[in-house]
Amino acid sequence: MLVSETTMPARRPRPNQIPGPEPAPVLGNLPRFRGHGLLAPYLADWRRYGDILRYKLGPREVVALCHPEHLRHIFIKERARYAKGMSVSNVVPLIGGGLFAADGDAWHSQRRLLHRLFTTKAVRAHEAAMMAAIDALVDRWLALPPGSTIELLPEMSHLAMDVICRTMFGMAADAGARELGESVAEAFAWVGEQGLKLVRLPLSVPTPRNRRFNRAKARIDRFLRETIDERRARGPRGDGGDLLDLLLEASDEESGARMSDTQVIDEVVTVFIAGHETTAVTLTWAWLLLAGHREVETRLHDELELVLGGQPPTVADLPALPYTRQFLDETMRHFPPVWIDPRQAIADDTIDGYPIPAGTLLMPVLYATHRHPDFWEDVERFDPERFAPDLAKARHPLAHAPFGGGPRVCLGMPFAYQEMSLAVAAIAQRFRLRRSYGTLLDFDALAGTLRPRWPTLVDLVRRER
Ligand code: HEM
Repeated sequence: MLVSETTMPARRPRPNQIPGPEPAPVLGNLPRFRGHGLLAPYLADWRRYGDILRYKLGPREVVALCHPEHLRHIFIKERARYAKGMSVSNVVPLIGGGLFAADGDAWHSQRRLLHRLFTTKAVRAHEAAMMAAIDALVDRWLALPPGSTIELLPEMSHLAMDVICRTMFGMAADAGARELGESVAEAFAWVGEQGLKLVRLPLSVPTPRNRRFNRAKARIDRFLRETIDERRARGPRGDGGDLLDLLLEASDEESGARMSDTQVIDEVVTVFIAGHETTAVTLTWAWLLLAGHREVETRLHDELELVLGGQPPTVADLPALPYTRQFLDETMRHFPPVWIDPRQAIADDTIDGYPIPAGTLLMPVLYATHRHPDFWEDVERFDPERFAPDLAKARHPLAHAPFGGGPRVCLGMPFAYQEMSLAVAAIAQRFRLRRSYGTLLDFDALAGTLRPRWPTLVDLVRRER
């Protein structure tokens, strides 16, 4: 569904002006994206104008870029000139001052405080909770008649939600948690819609959509405040605790300060959203891609058989499962769940010789980075061998950046790899998933993540472990 490359006249760039399609008065290039999402028109423009191009979205100047050196410039080398700023203004009503949207000193101290809970070593403590959620899914699938057809995305969403509920609150995804998940999904849909709005009405204006968002946000806050009050009254669980205990206990190394309840709520909602939707979407793509690539499936099964010998996977096994990890990396190259990682310039800068005035919105498009012809051959081929250690080491470190890069790289990366590797290993030991007739691989990039566009129907074929 690519937009024709000839639908918009090219702007004749002034010297030093970033090229891009000619904007219309008032709306600028917004009409180009309406009904198409941002990604498909951008890909056509990328081919036409190159690695750095400019849009006007209503009154906003936006620069889209995708070269790994651009990512290094913004995320690492010149990061002091860039902040989340306006680029996350649509998400702030939902996550408040949560880490994802925070900037400056507030971001520094929150990141320092949360970092300790999400290191590779720290997330090992969640192995039992993750495996309990994965086993519950496998048991539920085993109870279905052989050959049953299931809808994959809701299954993977439920799994990711169950993992986050068990690790965050020490409980399976029950009715209360399901209501929380539904409220988050409702509120998140509103967030996604704001991106391409020319005029954003304040939430105090009682449009039906705003009212639904406000109700969902109130339900989320109520659920979390009650859970926090209960936890404070009962005290920590005493067995090393879940993430909520750790968040309530955590104090800043330097100042000794603890988080207020509002800060805890903002971080819980942030982690709930950041950690649930992304892993659910990645796992969904992983199974859909695997179903279409028998040779990859065979190699994955061989590795699992050789290393696990029919035993359930453990965290200790993961370093011995390199192909499983390569398979996940190639899945995220193909369909990066977070396909765009925006910033706002807070100081004047220059990129590729073009001036970037303070205030400009920058859109690093990770989907395009992952298909950049200077770094990837035959980009649409699905091949986990691209991530064999020698090949990966020789490549630009940000040619593959599904988790972003630099100091703001995804906090939950070790958590995500652990959860997704255990899930892939445990599920692939018991099932082959076959795409049902008519299941297509196309995406919808309107929302915050790169979601499958069509129903994700698969047939479950049992394997003996
Ligand atoms: C496949 C799974 C995931 C992907 C692809 C992913 C991707 C990303 C990306 C691209 C960012 C933005 C980085 C930046 O601003 O440059 C991010 C930030 C973040 N992610 Fe993830 N994420 C995933 C899973 C998780 C999980 C499981 C958690 C928590 C349990 C999590 C928590 C966070 C948080 C808290 C931030 C904000 C970090 C900061 O600004 O300092 N993510 N993630």
